[in-house]
Order: sequence, then C-alpha cells, then structure tokens
Amino acid sequence: MRTYKITSLLVITSLALFSRSYGQKTASLKDSYKNDFLIGTALNATQIEEKDPTAKVLIPKQFNAATPENIMKAEVIHPGWDKYNFDLADKLVAYGKKYNIRINGHTLIWHSQLPAFMHGMQDADSVKQYFTNHIKTVAARYNGKVFSWDVVNEALNEDGTLRKSIFADKLGPDFVTEAFRLAQAASPDAQLYYNDYNNEQPAKRAGCIALIKKIQAAGVRIDGVGIQGHWRASNIPLKDIEESIVEYSKLGIKVMFTELDLGVLPNPWDGDAADVNMKATYTAKMNPYANGLPDSMQVKLTKGYEDLFKLFLKYKGTVSRVTFWGVNDGQSWLNGWPIKGRTNYPLLFDRNYQPKPAFDAVIALKK
Ligand code: XIL
Repeated sequence: MRTYKITSLLVITSLALFSRSYGQKTASLKDSYKNDFLIGTALNATQIEEKDPTAKVLIPKQFNAATPENIMKAEVIHPGWDKYNFDLADKLVAYGKKYNIRINGHTLIWHSQLPAFMHGMQDADSVKQYFTNHIKTVAARYNGKVFSWDVVNEALNEDGTLRKSIFADKLGPDFVTEAFRLAQAASPDAQLYYNDYNNEQPAKRAGCIALIKKIQAAGVRIDGVGIQGHWRASNIPLKDIEESIVEYSKLGIKVMFTELDLGVLPNPWDGDAADVNMKATYTAKMNPYANGLPDSMQVKLTKGYEDLFKLFLKYKGTVSRVTFWGVNDGQSWLNGWPIKGRTNYPLLFDRNYQPKPAFDAVIALKK
C-alpha cells in the first residue's frame, strides 16, 4: 500500500515536471524590473493571435509592454485610399487588455512600409489628405486603447537634417509638428513619441533635439523620444547613449529604448544604420554562425546586455520603457535584414525560447 502511494506520488510529480511548459521556473523580466521601467517586446501576427503555444505563455510572463512589429504600419492598416484593415490591430488591443500589456502604436507617419497607393504620389493635396485622414482615423480609433504612439518614425538623416521623404517633399519641414498636432487631437489620452535609429549619435541627436524643441515651441505636445537601439554587440555606443538620456531628459520628456537588439553578424557597410530599405547580397562569409554562436560571441553579447541594463537602471525614472525588437532569435528581423537568409542571435531568448546567458545577466542585475 505504502509502496503504491510513494510510486504514484513519484509518477504524479514527474508528470507534473515533464508537462511543465515554459515559464514556471524561469525568472520574469517585467517582474524583476517592475520598479524601474516597462519591459516590452515587438509582436508579430502569430504571437498576437496566440498561435504559438510557448509564446502564449512566455510573453505575458516576461513583458508588460508591446509594440506591433508590422501590423499597425500604414501598408497593413490602410491598404486602400478609403480602406482600412483594423482586424489585427483590434486583436492586439484585446490581447493587451487580456494580459495587462501596454500597447505602443507603431507607427502613424513613416516613409517606409507605405501602402502601394502612396507610391509615387505627386499631388501635394493628395499627400496632405492622406496624412490627415490616416492620422485622424487610426489615432482616433485607438484613443484610450493604446498607451502611446510612435507618431513619427525616422524623419531625420544621420547629420541631423530632415530626411528627404514624400512627407517632407510635399508637406514641407513642419510635417512632423503637424503630425503631432493631429495625433494629439485624435488621441488625446495617448502618450506621443518621436522615434528614430541612431538618434543617440551626436549629430543626429542634435537634429532630434531641435525637432523636439520645434514641436514644443509650437505648443504641441510630445511626451517622449524613442531611441530604437539596433546596435551591434561588439560596438555599443554606451557614452553616446548616456549623453542622450541626459540631453533628452532636459527637454522634459521621457526616453525609451524602443527596438532593442544586439546583432552579432558582420555589417556589409560596417555601420549602424537601420534603414529597412537597405539591402546587400548573401555570401557565406557574411553568415559565420549558421551552425551556432561561438562562446566568445555569446560572452560579448551577454556583456553588452549587462552594460546596457546597468546604464538603463542608472537612469530609471527618465528611461520609461525598454522594448526588445522581437521575442526570440528566430523571430528577429536581423535574420533577414540587410541580407536575407542569415542566422543572427540578437535577443534574450534563443530559437527554442530558452533564456540565454544574456537573459540571466539582465535578471542578475536585479537580484
Ligand atoms: C521591421 C520589421 O521587424 C520587419 O518585419 C519588416 O520587414 C521591416 O520593418 N525600424 C523600425 C521598425 O521602426 O518598424 C522596423 O521593423 C525595423 C527598423
């Protein structure tokens, strides 16, 4: 009788252990950093629709903020002049509500991933109408439903001047301020942000500060600036990042790291631009870790994340959110950009959703 009881107890315990899905033992990023800043991730359609069983458990446990990786971009949400497709964005909002995850709408005005009907549009009045209708319709629908908006994404060149784009060309240099004015009217309850890559670099940062001051001088609200954070593990500009947190906070706004990933692969131009339109050709030399990441690189990646989170913690209160650009390495856009078909390792969870040493290092800072 006794043996039977003990055996069945063992069977039950081991069954429980084996059926343990991801997440019951792993520490939680959002819980560890709950007194510091929000921890976010980019979500793709599969994850929003909860079609991946591991992600379904992992995401709500690890993250309390989310940005749609693609589904709120104009080409998806506004496919025809009078046609909007809110299906997935509505699902995302419901997902956020269900799991208490704050949604950052990404993005209202951006020159990339525009709908086909905008390509080559010459008539300034039409561009103006698109601009107004798009912001009004999308921002109003999600007022009170998203926590924040990336109102304008990537309006600047590396030297800090305004990037040549359909919006700058047809609407003039005030289009950024106008976008914020329209977003404020349509989505008064949302936080409004300007978002860019490399805006921690001194010249681009100066342009970004001037842009933010211009918005503020017009009496228009801007609540924060997003630094995307697509860096390379071997080349993280810690000093520029720290100076940027300090300089931006002097403007009275929050600073966020909105698309963090640390690539480990060679960059064809040896630079850090994150322009989605850049492309290079595949060669085996450019894909050195197809069969696994060597320890030396793993160590570099871990140290990179550790250094960054130390810095973010030093400025908690000013830094209000840190969002990773994806949940796991397999999902990362860096497997396909700027060269298709590579194997990159830029995030805290590996392709099987197992936490990496970098995850442990980030958690350890809070122990
Ligand atoms: C990327 C997505 O991750 C990809 O899936 C898509 O093919 C291209 O865009 N800066 C941004 C993001 O603001 O929207 C980009 O996301 C990455 C660079």
